[in-house]
Amino acid sequence: MMESSYIEQQTDIDNAPTTEPERQYYFMEKAKAYVQADSQRLGRPLKACTKTFGCQMNARDSEKLNGILETVGYELTDSEEADFVIYNTCTVRENANNKVYGRLGVLNTLKKQHPHMKIALCGCMMQEPEVVEKLKTSYRFIDLIFGTHNIYKFAELMVSAFEQQDMVIDIWKDTDKIVEDLPVERKYSFKSGVNIMFGCNNFCSYCIVPYVRGRERSREPKDIIGEITRLADDGVVEIMLLGQNVNSYGKNLKDPVTFAQLLTEIEKIDGIERIRFMTSHPKDLSDELIEVMANSKKLCRHLHLPLQSGSSRILEKMNRRYTKEQYLSLVEKIRAAVPEIALTTDIIVGFPGETEEDFEETMDVVRKVGYDSAFTFIYSKRTGTPAAVMEDQVPQDVVKVRFDRLLKEVQEIAAKKAEALTGQTQPILVEEINRQDSSLVTGRLSNNSVVHIPGDASMIGKLVDVTLTECKGFYYYGKPVNYE
Ligand code: SAH
Ligand code: SF4
Ligand code: F3S
Repeated sequence: MMESSYIEQQTDIDNAPTTEPERQYYFMEKAKAYVQADSQRLGRPLKACTKTFGCQMNARDSEKLNGILETVGYELTDSEEADFVIYNTCTVRENANNKVYGRLGVLNTLKKQHPHMKIALCGCMMQEPEVVEKLKTSYRFIDLIFGTHNIYKFAELMVSAFEQQDMVIDIWKDTDKIVEDLPVERKYSFKSGVNIMFGCNNFCSYCIVPYVRGRERSREPKDIIGEITRLADDGVVEIMLLGQNVNSYGKNLKDPVTFAQLLTEIEKIDGIERIRFMTSHPKDLSDELIEVMANSKKLCRHLHLPLQSGSSRILEKMNRRYTKEQYLSLVEKIRAAVPEIALTTDIIVGFPGETEEDFEETMDVVRKVGYDSAFTFIYSKRTGTPAAVMEDQVPQDVVKVRFDRLLKEVQEIAAKKAEALTGQTQPILVEEINRQDSSLVTGRLSNNSVVHIPGDASMIGKLVDVTLTECKGFYYYGKPVNYE
């Protein structure tokens, strides 16, 4: 294990258990005392706010942070005018970082008005030494900084932040540890993300994730099954299995298990109606998985299969380890086995050295596959990645023109795909009251498309058959069928 902790705990350390998660429960009790004392002093309950940037993995981490914040006595709020504010950051693209710096200015103003306020930063951005340096010198009002590998220590670090005046900083370079059984506060009562693995070993040449999330580690199947069983007992009907490359799940376990085998076990859990997963790397998507998907009653008819580029030449420079032809034949195989599947993707425009011909190859794949939707990104240079020092960085104006062309193509195809389902009757899982019109509720089809139907709060968390009456491009209006 490579762990370098800059800060030693000042008090309580001698009596703290040395095993996890017991140690964190011990610190939660300590934190509770500080929160209670502050609450008495102020004559009101204390509030905490977690802001999440980035991917589903970070969203799940934030639920763990919220679990601890609630356990120690904070009331959770969406407003940053709170007693404890924590930003769970992302650094996958430059603009993710900029957003955080922008909002820190606002927090500084708030803290000047409320000096007892605690401000914490964690997540992927904190794994970059330059970022921490900048925060240390120019953002002195921050109380606590930690990274992705020691997020399970949040309670312990919070206690340090209560006990010491200086900024508490604890960043680990990597870890082989997975700590189970800490509290979690779910955002939704009826659906939940479930981590099946952490980290990434792929080192796509543009991507910073392997540097900030560390090496790939899979959770034990029994821990995953145990967690999902408890979620089902607690009313969860839909789960999203999370990992940077779920198709390589289980390869590094003492007793190796494949992702397809894991899915087969999860499928048996009573109460779970829908299973989703993300993300699948095309190079590791096995025939075994396709077969499980074809035979499953619970796996959603949706596969997110990041393409990144349609040019084999660029794919090689990206270190993706598949060609355009391999990707297309994989899609063909999946469509043959699961004809109704919705395919979505991620595409990067303007990778170093991308020529007009390379870009046309991407457009060609987009037309051939006909994605149900696609996330399109402008290439962002990430310091420390191999692509950052590649020659022929593409000029911004060229990238912008290509990006707009791609977006237009993607949207036109997606709209046609969506239109084709109009008139069909399918189940949706109702998720929430519609934000614009409270006489409607909003849910998702198995293929992940959004549908609005007339309804009320009693439908939330239920699977309801709906007829798709009208398609609005990337969402639908529908009406419930046989719903009492
Ligand atoms: N593990 C997932 C992706 C995680 S990052 C996978 O392999 O698919 C999510 C998406 O961000 C990636 O699919 C990629 O399209 C995009 N991305 C990652 N690094 C980027 C960069 N430097 N510039 C632009 N987009 C990037
Ligand atoms: Fe990044 Fe590639 Fe790993 Fe995805 S698979 S997280 S794109 S390095
Ligand atoms: Fe961002 Fe970290 Fe996810 S860099 S995309 S939050 S793994």
